[in-house]
Amino acid sequence: MARVLTLATQKGGSGKTTLAASLAVAAAQAGEGVVVIDLDRQGSLRAWTQRREKEPREARVIYRATDGDGLASLLEKIHAHEPTTLALIDTPGIADESARYGMAAADLTLLPVRPTVLDADAVQATARELSAALVPFAFVFSQVQANAAQRAEELAPELLLMGRLFPGWIGLRTDHQDAMLMGLGVTEYRPKGTAADEVRALWAWLNERMGEPV
Ligand SMILES: Nc1ncnc2c1ncn2[C@@H]1O[C@H](COP(=O)(O)OP(=O)(O)OP(=O)(O)O)[C@@H](O)[C@H]1O
Ligand SMILES: [Mg+2]
Repeated sequence: MARVLTLATQKGGSGKTTLAASLAVAAAQAGEGVVVIDLDRQGSLRAWTQRREKEPREARVIYRATDGDGLASLLEKIHAHEPTTLALIDTPGIADESARYGMAAADLTLLPVRPTVLDADAVQATARELSAALVPFAFVFSQVQANAAQRAEELAPELLLMGRLFPGWIGLRTDHQDAMLMGLGVTEYRPKGTAADEVRALWAWLNERMGEPV
């Protein structure tokens, strides 16, 4: 049975798609059989897979198309397909039906949060929905600028009151933007870079959390 990891937040631009792409690659490099699903009509993750498929890649990431309505039956097929061990779902930055389908199907939903009070406040609506639906979730600070680390630390207790928080962060780094453009994950783009280290650490943490009780 494949595990299902969903990226969600009602706040646009929090870093869901960017993280979905790099986590997919990091997980594949760690030996997972990875399928990515894009429930956002903007299709940014789908477009990333199309750029990726222009060249052969060592880390295999398979794109499967569906909308929210078709998600359950696609996941059934994925579960019946042995080599897939991880389904990674990207959702739109609004609380629409497809985002709900994506969250309801998840073993764990990851909520990227930029380290601002506006973002930390906004993410609580999604967290409340997930709590009510008994879907395990975790926050990760994303796009953290070097001079915003202090603010992330100040906002952390508020998030920890609601749920789990990755004990590190994903920095704001151009590696993410360059990798996205080339259809790569940051761990492929610059394997020894800080962005790669951060994504591998996040994947390792998520890998341990998935399947744990809430
Ligand atoms: N860690 C990062 N470092 C640098 N830039 C980043 C990082 N994460 C995201 N970005 C940039 O921030 C913008 C928003 O990121 P992204 O599209 O991944 O967010 P999203 O949550 O998927 O947005 P939406 O809600 O619109 O789907 C993009 O321009 C992306 O390149
Ligand atoms: Mg997106």
